[in-house]
Amino acid sequence: MKTILVAGGAGYIGSHMTALLVEKGFQVVVADNLSTGHRQAVKGGAALRVGDVRDAAFLDRVFSEFAIDAVVNFAAFSLVGESVTDPLKYYGNNVGGAVSMLTAMKDHGVDKIVFSSTAATYGEPEKQPIEETDRTDPTNPYGGSKLAIEGLLKWCDRAYGIRYAALRYFNAAGANGEADIGEDHHPETHLIPIVLQCALGKRERVGIYGDDYPTPDGTCVRDYIHVRDLAAAHLLALEYLDRGGQSGAFNLGSGDGFSVKEIIDTARQVTGKPIPAVTEPRRAGDPSVLIASNAKAREVLGWAPERGLETIIADAWAWHSGHPDGYGEG
Ligand code: UFG
Repeated sequence: MKTILVAGGAGYIGSHMTALLVEKGFQVVVADNLSTGHRQAVKGGAALRVGDVRDAAFLDRVFSEFAIDAVVNFAAFSLVGESVTDPLKYYGNNVGGAVSMLTAMKDHGVDKIVFSSTAATYGEPEKQPIEETDRTDPTNPYGGSKLAIEGLLKWCDRAYGIRYAALRYFNAAGANGEADIGEDHHPETHLIPIVLQCALGKRERVGIYGDDYPTPDGTCVRDYIHVRDLAAAHLLALEYLDRGGQSGAFNLGSGDGFSVKEIIDTARQVTGKPIPAVTEPRRAGDPSVLIASNAKAREVLGWAPERGLETIIADAWAWHSGHPDGYGEG
C-alpha cells in the first residue's frame, strides 16, 4: 500500500490525515473541490487535484493518473443545521459523492476505503457509552446521509469486494502545530473554536445552548477527540484493511465526556482569558449526552487516543492565536 487518495483532504480532518500520511512516507493524492477546504491546508508532499467527487470524469482522471491503492473519503458537507433546512443538498453531495467514488474504485480495481462517518448516525442514543451495535436512528439529514452511505458500503462490499472501515467520529477538535494546520470553518458552529474566538476577542461571548439538560451541570456532554488521534485511527484502519480485515463501523471517541461549561472553564485555564459566557435557549436536535465506547477500535484496530482535553484545547489555541483569521482566504 503506497498511494492513498484522500478525498476532502483540504478540509479540517482530511488535512490532518494528509499530513500524517506524508509524514509516514506515503504518496498522497488529495482530491478536493475547495468548497469548504483550503488550498493552504495541503502542505508540500501531497499532490492536489482540484475537482468535485461527484464528477465522474474528474475521478476517472485522478484514478488514471495515479496507481491508487486505497481511498480515504472525507469529502462531504457537515453542517447539521443546514442539513435540516436543505436535505437534498446533503444527500445529493454526500451520498452522490460516495456513489461516484465507489464507482471509480470498482472501475479501477481499488478495493479498500476508509470512510468518514459520524456519531450523528445514532441520533438520540439508547445508552451511554454508545456501542457500534446500538440503534442507529439519525435525528438530522447529515447523520441520515452518512448512515445511507454506510448501507451502500455494505452492499458494495458484498457485490464488488470493496472492503471499508466506517469511522464514526465524536467531537473532533485540536490542531497540528508542526504541520501548521487547524480548524477553519465558515461559518464556525463548533464549540471549541467559538470559545477560542472569544478568547481572541473576535467574539464578545459564547452562548451556552441550554443549561437545563439532565446532566451534572445542566449543559450538554460531548466526547472530544483530538484530530491527530483521529488521523492516527484512519491510518490504523487502512493498515487493518490492507491485512485483509473485515469491513465494519468503528466509534472514534475518547470514552470521556465533558460538559459545555467544563469546556469553557478548561479554555479559560489554558488561555488565561476570561471568555464571557451566557446561557441561551437549547439548540434544536442536540442530544444531552454523547459518549463513545471505543472498545472496538482499541481491540480491532489497536487504536488508543493519546491526547486529552487540555492538549486538545492547547493545540487548538496555539493554532487559532497564530492564525486569528484562519487560512485567511475569506
Ligand atoms: N454549543 C454551545 N454553544 C455554541 C456551540 C455549541 O453551547 O456556540 C454546544 C452544543 O449545543 C453541543 C456542544 O456545544 O452541546 C458541542 O457542539 P458542537 O456544535 O461543537 O458539536 P456537536 O456535538 O453538535 O456536533 C458534533 C459534530 C457533528 C456531528 C455531531 C454528532 O461536529 O458533525 O457531533 O452528534 F454530527
